[in-house]
Amino acid sequence: SNNIVIAIDGYSSCGKSTIAKALAKKLHFIYIDSGAMYRAVTLYFLRNNIDLKAPEQITAALKNIHLNFHSRDYETHIMLNDEEVSEEIRLMPVSENVSTVSAIHAVRVEMVKQQQRMGKSKNIVMDGRDIGTVVFPDAQLKLFMTADPLVRAERRFKELTAKNPELTLEDVFDNLAHRDYQDTTRAESPLTRAHDAIILDNTNLTPDEQLAFVVERVTPFL
Ligand code: C5P
Repeated sequence: SNNIVIAIDGYSSCGKSTIAKALAKKLHFIYIDSGAMYRAVTLYFLRNNIDLKAPEQITAALKNIHLNFHSRDYETHIMLNDEEVSEEIRLMPVSENVSTVSAIHAVRVEMVKQQQRMGKSKNIVMDGRDIGTVVFPDAQLKLFMTADPLVRAERRFKELTAKNPELTLEDVFDNLAHRDYQDTTRAESPLTRAHDAIILDNTNLTPDEQLAFVVERVTPFL
């Protein structure tokens, strides 16, 4: 097929989704937030008290989870068994457990399968941790994003603090550091730069500058 896939991987909260959404909007591609899928699975596991050490419980739970994206705009609207959970999956209980859940083999196998199906014969931008390495190793354009850890924590803190006044910058910083550690050291599909991914450090770049950087590199494929 000759559809175009743009794969965006990188550390937690370094602006992957901001650039992914802007690109999708500009190019009229479909944006898929793979992290939202792992978060929705985590929410289901938490709500249903799934024992992460019981493989049969995990397998059974995965069969009962139906994920769908609603594309009203270029924001992430994710449905977990027909309930929109887009806001709840951003809260701390999910953020604190998602890296543990996403390290489970059976969970990854199922998510990767669904992600590959979504990108089949469509032009997509997908962001995550293993998109350029595992999900779409043949993507036409791969980005590996990074930014200064404190800058990342400050950005995420700003997003979350209005709705979570009790949250501190330190909580957010610790959660990002912890997820990055788990995501890069796990056995299964660890976060790592694909050999052919372009590095984008956006510590000192505006969203417009980042968009221009990527558009210049994707234009040859359009
Ligand atoms: O992208 P986001 O920060 O929302 O992802 C939440 C978590 O989901 C990550 O910290 C990582 O543990 C997991 N994840 C993953 N593979 C992906 C996307 C997300 O393991 N492709």
